[in-house]
Amino acid sequence: MTIVTSAAYTTVESIDLSDMAFWAQPPERREQAFALLRAERPVAFFEEPDFAGSSTLAHARGPGYFALTRHADISEVSRHPEIFCSGKGAISIIDLPDTMVEYFAGMISSDNPRHARLRRIVSKAFSPHQVRAIAEEIERVANGLIDRAADLGECDFVTSFAGPLSLEIICDMMGLPASEHATVSRCSNVIASSDDPEYLPAGSDHLVAMLEAGQELTALMTGLAAFRLEHPTDDLTTALVTTNIDGEALTQSELASFFILLLTAGNETTRNSLAHGLLALSQNPDQRAIWQSDPVGVAATGVDEIVRWASPVNWMRRTVTSAWARTSLARRSA
Ligand code: HEM
Repeated sequence: MTIVTSAAYTTVESIDLSDMAFWAQPPERREQAFALLRAERPVAFFEEPDFAGSSTLAHARGPGYFALTRHADISEVSRHPEIFCSGKGAISIIDLPDTMVEYFAGMISSDNPRHARLRRIVSKAFSPHQVRAIAEEIERVANGLIDRAADLGECDFVTSFAGPLSLEIICDMMGLPASEHATVSRCSNVIASSDDPEYLPAGSDHLVAMLEAGQELTALMTGLAAFRLEHPTDDLTTALVTTNIDGEALTQSELASFFILLLTAGNETTRNSLAHGLLALSQNPDQRAIWQSDPVGVAATGVDEIVRWASPVNWMRRTVTSAWARTSLARRSA
């Protein structure tokens, strides 16, 4: 992969979001490309990245995609799941093989009525009592990690703080013991790795490694769910296995898939936001001083601003279900 560091983009034609080298560029250069897309081609068509041959499970290259880069367009799409759906081929740019959709997609890759059913059951488990307990847990885990880091003198913030914070909280929410943290961390890193060799077992096939990691987490969750049915406590797993709304409950595979979704949706996003936030505050000591002078007051808007600035989720796919909408997008992208 070549990292391009040349001058600013001057034409939208020179921007290729499917070229992995684009994403390896410094943030300023990517931001300049997105500013140009928003200004000149807010609906832009791209051929799909070519992953053929990179995995034994890789699918044929898809038909390409329209990248929507303006807030108003994305809001509009999000409001019309009947035209822009999540349930076909998952929410990744490449279609996931069917075998993987259930493991790695679950609720986030489904549309109504299935999505509404899953949301109903899951929201019921997130009672005010559960949410209060999670807030207290976050403080406890954060304090513990800060104490441990302080003892080290210096440390890698991502591996010593940002990573373990989200992972430990999600594991604690589900009621998984500390002895399982290393397994959960390894498996969720493989699933979220996007082919990053740092997180994949040496010489492994990316998609096969993802499937194996999913199976390992499923086995862990299935065992815990069975145990909690017999020995209920106040964790989220107990709430999820015992929640039954008008005869509706999560199946065993839905529970495992929800756990994997929580891990992948919650880990990577929080880890990256925290790391970007620390970097931004280190590079802008005046902003750090303002925050330090009023931690609670600034946090209300400061956290949102860090998430906006870090943009830990770069994209989400929707699949167009209407020929009319497709034609309209094609017209706008021309
Ligand atoms: C900075 C942190 C986070 C960001 C930026 C973020 C971003 C997102 C986005 C953009 C979606 C929507 C996907 C779509 O429309 O297709 C989403 C969905 C979701 N996120 Fe997060 N997320 C964050 C943290 C978390 C955490 C901590 C958890 C759980 C512990 C979580 C669990 C979920 C779940 C379960 C969904 C699916 C909801 C559904 O399908 O109804 N996220 N997240």
